[in-house]
Amino acid sequence: MPHNTAPHASRCTQGVTGATVGPGAAAIRLEVNGIVRALAVLPSETLAEVLRERLALTGTKIACDRGACSSCTVWVDGAPVCSCMVLAIEVDGHRVTSIEGLAGEALHPVQSAFIEHDAIQCGFCTPGLVMSCVALLESHPHPTEEEVKAAIGGHLCRCGTYPHVIAAVLDVARKGKRSP
Ligand code: FES
Ligand code: FES
Repeated sequence: MPHNTAPHASRCTQGVTGATVGPGAAAIRLEVNGIVRALAVLPSETLAEVLRERLALTGTKIACDRGACSSCTVWVDGAPVCSCMVLAIEVDGHRVTSIEGLAGEALHPVQSAFIEHDAIQCGFCTPGLVMSCVALLESHPHPTEEEVKAAIGGHLCRCGTYPHVIAAVLDVARKGKRSP
């Protein structure tokens, strides 16, 4: 069971207001990485699909597309969610942060630490892992190893980078640098 599927999304046809939408496209307005976007989306489109296919934010990766791997993790209102499990209509009026919105000119310290600690192999799971790790450090600046493990518990890394990811997060926590 992934740790971060909230807000839970079934393939329903209700927006956050509870109003019935569809079957055609519905107008939504959301903030993505600090930019307000107005879009017309089908009720069946997931947040992951909209980020990748409509906004060209392809840093968010879709692997299982069913809430089982957390590769597609982004933040909604600052909290990690599996974006393949969230319908775009559900984030109408919300704030979304994807991996592209995390760093500025420089990499985020967690991204740099992933490089330093060799926590990236094929890299497919990396954006989602980084989003969860940064969220953890935002709420727990000095996590224990167990807390790091819990925070990444829903992430599947087929390359087995877990020990390196944990080392990277603990290193960032030790150095105390949490923003680019
Ligand atoms: S792609 Fe979303 S959880 Fe696997
Ligand atoms: S680095 Fe390859 S899946 Fe994690």
